Amino acid sequence: MSKAATPLVRVTLKVNGKTYTHHVPPRMLLVHFLRDVLGLTGTHVGCDTSNCGACTVLVNGKAVKSCTVYTFMVDGAEITTIEGLEQNGKLHPIQEAFWENHGLQCGFCTPGMIMTLHDFLSRNKSPTESEVRRAIEGNLCRCTGYVNIVRSALWAAERMRGG
Ligand code: FES
Ligand code: FES
Repeated sequence: MSKAATPLVRVTLKVNGKTYTHHVPPRMLLVHFLRDVLGLTGTHVGCDTSNCGACTVLVNGKAVKSCTVYTFMVDGAEITTIEGLEQNGKLHPIQEAFWENHGLQCGFCTPGMIMTLHDFLSRNKSPTESEVRRAIEGNLCRCTGYVNIVRSALWAAERMRGG
C-alpha cells in the first residue's frame, strides 16, 4: 500500500524585501527553501547539524541558523540573506570590512559570519575584541583564520559609527 503524501504547507515570506508565497513540504528546512526554491545560494550548508553557522540568515533582524528551523515556522517573517545586504551596487560596511581586511580565506563561512555580525553590531556599536570573538563563537571557520575576521568586525563597527 502506498503511503499517503504529506500535504504541502503554504508559506509567505519576505526575503530581501521581496514577498514570496510557496507551498512547501512541512519538513523543508529554511536553508533548503532559500537555496533550492529561491535560488539564493549565498547561504551555505556546512554541517546540517547546527554547529557551523554557515547557514546563518536574519529572521526579523535576528541571526538564526537556517538549518535549525522549518520554513513553515517562519511564515510571515522578514528574512535577510547575504544577497540582501548590498544596496544599489554598494557593499554593506561589514562586507566591505571583510574585503578590506582579508577577513576571508576560502570564503565558505563568510556569509554566515557576516549575518551573525550584522545582528551583533546592530546591538553593540562599540564592541571589544573579546565581545566579537564571543559573538562569532557559533560560526566555525575551517580555515581557522579568525584574526582577520575579528579585525574585519572591529573595522566594520568603526565604519558603522561613522569613523
Ligand atoms: S549548516 Fe547550519 S549550522 Fe552548519
Ligand atoms: S574562510 Fe574558509 S571556512 Fe572560513
